[in-house]
Amino acid sequence: TPLYSSAASDVYKRQMHGFKCTNKHKEIVMPMPIHPIFNEHSLQSIAKAEGLVVICADAAGSFGPSAKRVNRLMKGALRKFADSEVFEKMDEGEIQRFPAPLGLLANAVLLLKMKKRPSVEMAQKCGANIAKEAGKSNIHLFVTANARAAHLAFGIAMRRYNFNEYKTKNQTAFGSLNIYVTNVSKTEIEYNDLGAVVDGVFFTRDLVNEPANILTTSEFSNRLKDLEKLGLKVSVLEEADMEALGMFSLLGVGMGSESPSKIVIMEWSGGGNESPFALVGKGVVFDTGGISLKPAGGMEDMTMDMGGAGVVAGVMKTLALRKAKANIVGLVGLVENMPDAKAQRPGDVVKSMKGETIEVINTDAEGRLVLADVLWYAQKIFKPSGIINLATLTGAIIVALGHENAGAFSNNDKLVNDFIKSAGHESEGVWRMPLNKNYDKLIISRIADIKNVGGRTAGSITAAQFIQRFIDEDMPWVHLDIAGVASVKNETDFAPKGATGWGVRSLNRLISDIYEI
Ligand code: BES
Ligand code: ZN
Ligand code: ZN
Repeated sequence: TPLYSSAASDVYKRQMHGFKCTNKHKEIVMPMPIHPIFNEHSLQSIAKAEGLVVICADAAGSFGPSAKRVNRLMKGALRKFADSEVFEKMDEGEIQRFPAPLGLLANAVLLLKMKKRPSVEMAQKCGANIAKEAGKSNIHLFVTANARAAHLAFGIAMRRYNFNEYKTKNQTAFGSLNIYVTNVSKTEIEYNDLGAVVDGVFFTRDLVNEPANILTTSEFSNRLKDLEKLGLKVSVLEEADMEALGMFSLLGVGMGSESPSKIVIMEWSGGGNESPFALVGKGVVFDTGGISLKPAGGMEDMTMDMGGAGVVAGVMKTLALRKAKANIVGLVGLVENMPDAKAQRPGDVVKSMKGETIEVINTDAEGRLVLADVLWYAQKIFKPSGIINLATLTGAIIVALGHENAGAFSNNDKLVNDFIKSAGHESEGVWRMPLNKNYDKLIISRIADIKNVGGRTAGSITAAQFIQRFIDEDMPWVHLDIAGVASVKNETDFAPKGATGWGVRSLNRLISDIYEI
């Protein structure tokens, strides 16, 4: 039997090492996110539920009808605990596990400490904590008339993610997620848009977690083409198209790779006649640094260098799933940065689509070279009302902000403040960083119009100043440097270690709050 699908291109054949990875096998590659089943509240279900039974108590230790029933089945053990000092000392959102409970079929009861009417943010965090505590078990969450049921469900779903595509052993799936509420249809309607966010975030995480021998530029583009099924218009600029447009800044980056460079354009037209808002993403499917080769240690992390493109794709998927009433165009520049006899060299000069020339001092500062041409194209073709770009652009932003905040650079206070506000509501960290023309002297080239690196100081800012050269003066624009937040080594509130999907929630929120009609 052949190792490779015959539908795969030549590049795939060499790179995919036995994994089936064409669209035909998409089911295998992308696990479906787990959405909750909402059930009519019923006290009878509690004793019979298998897996985990989850109930709540507020700060004063008072129970709703479900917790009361669990307490009765457990012959008062729950009440005794809720009256104890241990319970009093628990923070809101914390969970106490009661293994092998008397009187219930469940393996364990989880008691969640949560206000009767928590904030939306707290309800989501409580949900994530439940998922963390539950692992792969079936969950039966009894919330009765709690107004935040949909947000609890969202928190659980967001945290019940793993990427075990390439583990051939112990691949147990997540159990069922059952939530018992008094008003099923109302909760389902409320969950609808939240579920679209979960699907978008999972799409982003899957893309970011994929290794680079699987997620080549062609495979990435195929997965985006697949979004057409949801009603998005997806088109692709191939190398010849980009050559005709004069995009030699982007094309230069991909010259050392066997994988063809591409720009994929995703259009969602749910609004009126207004011009679209644009999202632009850096999609470097692997960043070796090119001829300015990175050191070996940690280079494997550069599979996530397409994180910006992954977020743009995730947002577009969410918008389509929830049929957003807005016009949004997403553009991603897909390239691979490899060292090769054909690769561009330090010192090379390339001409961008804008017409300005760039001296490539360091081939590892490639993200800005990709963005320069995609951003210019986005402005010239779509005349957007504003642009947000996302990129795993600099190691320097991690030095500055760590893994808690992305850096936001902007020429427009209103747009960046709107975004920061949205991110606050969605529990995604972001911190504004400065732009200033005084930094431009650091990227003056001796022989070209501009050079692609600015020396040791202010690395994230000079990168942002470089990008700004390719933004029209009156164009509202935010650049998000997500190098520290796109993929992390420790679990976060809403994601296990690895890809987080940072940005999908905030951008979706910004669009629904500001741009939807
Ligand atoms: N993809 C990297 C930035 C990066 C670093 C992302 C760590 C995620 C984690 C980017 O292309 C890069 O290599 N930047 C250089 C720029 C330098 C050569 C001016 C960097 O940050 O060192
Ligand atoms: Zn690089
Ligand atoms: Zn990079």
